[in-house]
Amino acid sequence: MKSKYIFIALIALTSLAFGASDSAIWGKDLIANIAGYDKEGSLHLGKYFTLLQSTYFKPLFFGVLVGVPAAFFIHYAVIGPMIFSHDRKKIYVFTLFNRVVHAISAISFMLIIPTGLVMMFGSFFGGGSFVRLCTEIHAISTLLFIISIVPMFFMWVRWMFIHIDDIKWLMIVGGYLNKDKKPVPAGRFNAGQKTWFWLATLGGVLMISTGTAMYFQDFKLEIIASYGISQIDLLRASAITHNALGIGILALFLVHIYMSVFAIKGAIHSMITGFKEEEEVEILHSSFYKELKEKKEI
Ligand code: HEM
Repeated sequence: MKSKYIFIALIALTSLAFGASDSAIWGKDLIANIAGYDKEGSLHLGKYFTLLQSTYFKPLFFGVLVGVPAAFFIHYAVIGPMIFSHDRKKIYVFTLFNRVVHAISAISFMLIIPTGLVMMFGSFFGGGSFVRLCTEIHAISTLLFIISIVPMFFMWVRWMFIHIDDIKWLMIVGGYLNKDKKPVPAGRFNAGQKTWFWLATLGGVLMISTGTAMYFQDFKLEIIASYGISQIDLLRASAITHNALGIGILALFLVHIYMSVFAIKGAIHSMITGFKEEEEVEILHSSFYKELKEKKEI
């Protein structure tokens, strides 16, 4: 039985590569479609799907949407942003290629996230053509996300593997609980950034494939039938995965924005110009700074 669930995840991942029909039923209709056929499903995910969809997902999304910014508001008011000297040298950390790829994914997310939330809270927005328009924008902006996420994965993956610094970073919550300028253990990317990278890239692929399965509901995948898994099972598993993972991605996206725009004053400039302040690298990425000094690159 366990292998069936693993298989569903794999199928969801590969569903992009297969042919699909042109039906695009989302929001309320999609939920009704997927919930309605429990007798048909071989895995009987129907009751979990209905329970999660009707009872847990909406409040969880709402909780993240309100709770995460509220926590940051308190952090900003009590501890405040980290401010680094702008009088020292600047260190080149992001190439033009890095910045363009990142900009494409940022634009795609700025469309994907609000439209996804409109779909989640479709009844609040009165359903109908506005929600349908958001559905289409959600799907089209996913194409932008796809073209950015593959290069993003390869351009940064070599620095994203776990390191002893990451454990130390986690133990002091990255140094964000005070404003002391003590060197924080981290390489080019810290544990928080690494977590966001993996969630955005690998999680992104899962979001794309599960989303695609739901968008093209009546595609034909012979291979799933040969494993005794019905179409409805695949759609239910896709919807559950898409929503559960979406909650995590929304939360970390909000963290990413807070860190880049508010918590570290001026951090956003590094993604525009490619340069970071030397003091910021020395404090927040102390192992990387040491490495650059040893190599006499600064
Ligand atoms: C409006 C949206 C966004 C803004 C303002 C933003 C800003 C930034 C900034 C300033 C950095 C450099 C952080 C540093 O090293 O100090 C960064 C890095 C990064 N961004 Fe974004 N970003 C946005 C959207 C996204 C999206 C949608 C993704 C992925 C799908 C993404 C993935 C990353 C990754 C993986 C890094 C490198 C690791 C990290 O710093 O977290 N960003 N971003």
